[in-house]
Amino acid sequence: MGCIRLQEIWIELGQGRRYPVVVGTGHLLELGTWLAERLTGQCLLVTNATLRRLYGGDLKSSLQARGWQVNAIQVPDGEEAKTLAQAGLLYDYMLAEGFDRDSLVIALGGGVVGDLAGFVAGTFMRGIPFIQVPTSLLAQVDASIGGKTAVNHRLGKNLVGIFHQPRAVWTDVNTLATLPEREFISGLAEVIKHGVIDADYFALLEATWPNLLARDPATLVQVIAGSVRIKGKIVAADEREAGQRALLNLGHTIGHALEAASNYRYSHGEAVAIGLVGAGLLACRLGLWSAVDHERTCALLRAVGLPIIAHDISAQDVLCYMAHDKKARADGARFVLPVRLGEVKCGLTVPVDMICDALAALGAV
Ligand code: NAD
Ligand code: GLY
Repeated sequence: MGCIRLQEIWIELGQGRRYPVVVGTGHLLELGTWLAERLTGQCLLVTNATLRRLYGGDLKSSLQARGWQVNAIQVPDGEEAKTLAQAGLLYDYMLAEGFDRDSLVIALGGGVVGDLAGFVAGTFMRGIPFIQVPTSLLAQVDASIGGKTAVNHRLGKNLVGIFHQPRAVWTDVNTLATLPEREFISGLAEVIKHGVIDADYFALLEATWPNLLARDPATLVQVIAGSVRIKGKIVAADEREAGQRALLNLGHTIGHALEAASNYRYSHGEAVAIGLVGAGLLACRLGLWSAVDHERTCALLRAVGLPIIAHDISAQDVLCYMAHDKKARADGARFVLPVRLGEVKCGLTVPVDMICDALAALGAV
């Protein structure tokens, strides 16, 4: 399919630091042309077996056609790729192949590949440029934007990382055609989270969700570009999460705990969806958020096939995981809560008994 629409959104980080997020359909293989006008040299294309088979070969050839020396390297699929050991293998390979400070890393894949490749690019020789080519919905609307990169530690996810912004994010929504349904729907939780942060975007989602679910390319471009704008604006204002970037953690306090308490039976997006409902219930009880906005949020989550109730979850386990959360306090947990569609507040401490009530309402026993 040809490129029917391209949107270029600039993430403005101040002091002249900025990068484009190029969202469109069918422009994946134009990356070499775009790069050739800006950088030259040797590049490491980091991907996994699935993405290599689907898009990696063509992307590599198109880069080579524009004069790049490309070394493609495959990492395991899933979270096990995000380890220091795996990063070490990439450093070994890059050193053996003569990579230097002028080399480039390209991440082709979901958030796992993006986080690992970004971490390696940010630490190899104190930091070399990298490009995000996100292929999952979650990576296109969230993980590829904002420069958080990390690997996991045995004591927790994303515990070892750095901020390293990409030079560009190259988002071809046509790659979503091959994304498994459950992954696609999971990515919609972060999209709806952005809707709670921005009321116009929420209305767009209410109007377009059937087309979105059908993966209509024009709708995907519009919705993904919208998410990029919302996250990009927040990141631009608070790159290092000293303040308002924490708004992006809406739904994640309960979500992360639920993900772990379910022993990862719930995907990240499914757990965040239930976490969004949990945040809404708490906000209702605190008198911050109206029943009408809460019901609209639940209705949209339900419409796209995300869960709003937890099954077979121990409330005690969820509380335990929440207590280990970096943001936990002795007298309760700190939450990001919605105030109205389009307004979210962070740093709100909620008493434990209120959390217990909300977990019971979410179906945890
Ligand atoms: P993922 O990278 O594991 O991708 C999900 C699955 O979909 C994988 O099996 C992958 O191979 C497959 N896949 C991806 N694109 C595909 C495509 N187009 N066609 C077919 N299969 C495809 O998971 P994810 O949900 O993309 O990302 C999750 C990771 O992102 C987590 O490690 C999380 O910590 C991280 N994350 C990072 C940030 C950030 O700001 N850096 C934000 C959110 C999440
Ligand atoms: N995913 C939240 C952030 O990037 O800050």
